[in-house]
Amino acid sequence: MRHFTNVKDLGNLQDALKMAFEIKKDRFKDIELGRNKTAMLVFFNSSLRTRLSTQKAAMNLGMNVMVLDVNQGAWKLETERGVIMDGDKSEHLLEAVPVMGSYCDIIGVRSFAHFENKDEDYNEMILNQFIKYSGRPVFSMEAATRHPLQSFADLITIEEYKTKERPKVVLTWAPHPRALPQAVPNSFAEWMNETDYDFVIANPEGYNLAPEFVGKAKVTHNQDEAFEGADFIYAKNWAAYEDPNYGKIISKDMNWTVSARQMALTNNARFMHCLPVRRNMIVTDEVIESPQSIVIPEAANREISAQTVLKMILEDLK
Ligand code: CP
Repeated sequence: MRHFTNVKDLGNLQDALKMAFEIKKDRFKDIELGRNKTAMLVFFNSSLRTRLSTQKAAMNLGMNVMVLDVNQGAWKLETERGVIMDGDKSEHLLEAVPVMGSYCDIIGVRSFAHFENKDEDYNEMILNQFIKYSGRPVFSMEAATRHPLQSFADLITIEEYKTKERPKVVLTWAPHPRALPQAVPNSFAEWMNETDYDFVIANPEGYNLAPEFVGKAKVTHNQDEAFEGADFIYAKNWAAYEDPNYGKIISKDMNWTVSARQMALTNNARFMHCLPVRRNMIVTDEVIESPQSIVIPEAANREISAQTVLKMILEDLK
C-alpha cells in the first residue's frame, strides 16, 4: 500500500483484519521492519488518541517518530496558491511539505474540514497536497471527509464483540454544542458498507450525510425505531452536510442524547464512540459507564489499526 486515505486503500478488507488480529496477538513481531525508518506525524488539529496510538504503533514497528504541531511552534502556513503573502502566514505549504518529506519516510496528516468551502473540504485540499508534494507515502490521521484509522479500529472492535455473524449496527447522530465535521460518521458508514452487517443511520431531518458515504445503509429520522434490536450503537455528532446549511448546527435536540431509555430498546447493544465525547450531550454518564460501553477497548484498538496500516506501507517501501 502506498497511501492510506480510505478503506479501499487496504485492498482486501478481510486480509487486513486478519493482519490486525495477528498484530494484536504479538505487537512486537515486526520490530525490525521499521528499523532506520522515520514516521512524521503532522497535526493541523488537536489530538489525544491519534497522536499517542500512532506513535506507539510506529514504535512497535521499530520506527523513529517525529511529531509536528503545525499551529504550535511552526511557521504559520499559507495553503492557497497565488496569494500575496503579506499577512501573518510566513511559509507556503508548497515549500513546507517537500521539506517535511525530506526528513522522513512516511507522513501522517491530520487536517479537519474548515466549513468555509464545501468543495475544498470534500476535495481534501490539504491531504492531497501532502500526497502530491511530499514525495512520501501519506496516511490520513483524520482528514476533512474521513477518519479511516478510527473506522478501522471500530471495525476491529465490532468483530471482537459481535455475538452473531450479521449484527445490526446503528450510527446515530447526537447533539453537541459545536459544529463538528462529518469525517467520523462518513468514514464509519464507508467501512460499514464494506461489510454485510445490517447497517442503519439515524439522524434528524437536515442531517443526512453525503450519499456516497450513506451507500446502501438504511436511513431513518426516527432514533427509537433504529435502536430496536440493535447490537451496536455508534453515537456521533456531525454538522449539516446538505446545502444551504453545510457546516451549520441546525438542531441541538437533547432527545437524541443516548440514554438508558433508548438503550433499553436494543438487543443489549454495545455502546461505541470514537472519543473525545461530551457526556450528557452525546451520551449519559449511565450509558458510557455501563458494562455495555466499549469505548475504551475501541480506543485501544487505534494502536492496532495504526500498526496494521504502517506495516502495510513499510512492506511496500522495501
Ligand atoms: N478519536 C480520535 O481521533 O481521537 P483524537 O481526536 O483524540 O485523536
